Amino acid sequence: MIDQLAEKFKLAFGHVHTNVFFAPGRVNLIGEHIDYNGGLVMPCAITFGTYLLIAPNTTNIFRFRSVNFDETLDIEVQDSYTKRETLWYNYPVGVIDRFLKSGKKVKGFDMLFFGNIPIGSGLSSSASIEIVTAFALNVLLNSGFSKLALVKLSKDVENNFIGLNSGIMDQFAVAFGEVNKALQLNCDTLEYTAVDCSLGDNVLAIINTNKPRKLAESKYNERVNECNAALKALNVEVEATYLCDMDSQAFTAHQHLIKDDIVRKRAQHVVEENQRVKQAAKALAAGNLSAFGKLMYASHDSLQYLYEVSGRELDVVVEYCRTNKHVTGARMTGAGFGGCAIALVNKDQYDNFYKEIIAFYTNKIGYAPSVYKSMIGDGVKALA
Ligand code: GLA
Repeated sequence: MIDQLAEKFKLAFGHVHTNVFFAPGRVNLIGEHIDYNGGLVMPCAITFGTYLLIAPNTTNIFRFRSVNFDETLDIEVQDSYTKRETLWYNYPVGVIDRFLKSGKKVKGFDMLFFGNIPIGSGLSSSASIEIVTAFALNVLLNSGFSKLALVKLSKDVENNFIGLNSGIMDQFAVAFGEVNKALQLNCDTLEYTAVDCSLGDNVLAIINTNKPRKLAESKYNERVNECNAALKALNVEVEATYLCDMDSQAFTAHQHLIKDDIVRKRAQHVVEENQRVKQAAKALAAGNLSAFGKLMYASHDSLQYLYEVSGRELDVVVEYCRTNKHVTGARMTGAGFGGCAIALVNKDQYDNFYKEIIAFYTNKIGYAPSVYKSMIGDGVKALA
């Protein structure tokens, strides 16, 4: 594949590339809508991701091309940049803007991106393109950022350049992921452990609902605001920096402080989901996948009924999974509002699962989902 991309690079820019970088997408096993509430999450990097072929040029111009999108951009090196409409190149442009704001010297590069993560499917195609750009520039400009600094810089791009108030999970997983490992990440302290995630007799299936995700960004920011409102109400009596500083007991004792029913439901999800991640970590360490699977289903229910970020398409996927005794657990993953679900499926039964879930979903929704066997891969790296 790199050979084909190399050809395309040459066609686009009239010279050969000097380096190739790759950053993956991610799935989150459990701990949803938790990162911006300072709790625990459990993402893994996947083997789908974004490839970047790059070479310096002598023109002091950044030239962006994508195999996935027709839009191109040639833009001179300047002091800062602003977002343009909603086009794909805002992500790399945002990263360059943050390099400039950090006082780093930049110069012109030719860049060709290719992503094989289904775009807008909740598998972090945006964190992947941010991190691959940041990592590549850091190497080629010798900017001296640590990997964690690149993660924070990319999150800042997402929050303040793109305008999505997301947490740090996606950029972190994309940067620090390891083959066959899940990251148990504390989103407050940013301490993490990479734990074995070989999943016994199971494979991890990704089911993309293929639902067009309209309004996802505004709904996401709405949830962030609801959590902030819940925290503010609780802070009248409880000292907490994040909702996840509270356990279920403390929350039950003080939830009356939250007057708005919807806001209370949102906070309940957050507090209970954070507890579930702790239980899930223990279950995984003990090799108790059945307990892990039950927690996945419980997480989905909570996202469906309390946090209300699921939707009919994701619910139908999980509804099917519950009917198949060879599925140990399933849930939506990522922000929700469409996007992808994950399921732990017995590896000998995968082919049957694949056929059945497509038929079940198509029958209920009217179009087919895409179903993949996911491999847990590495974080961002140089390929050549
Ligand atoms: C998106 C955001 C993450 C996280 C998840 C939900 O992927 O980018 O920061 O909040 O949604 O868990």
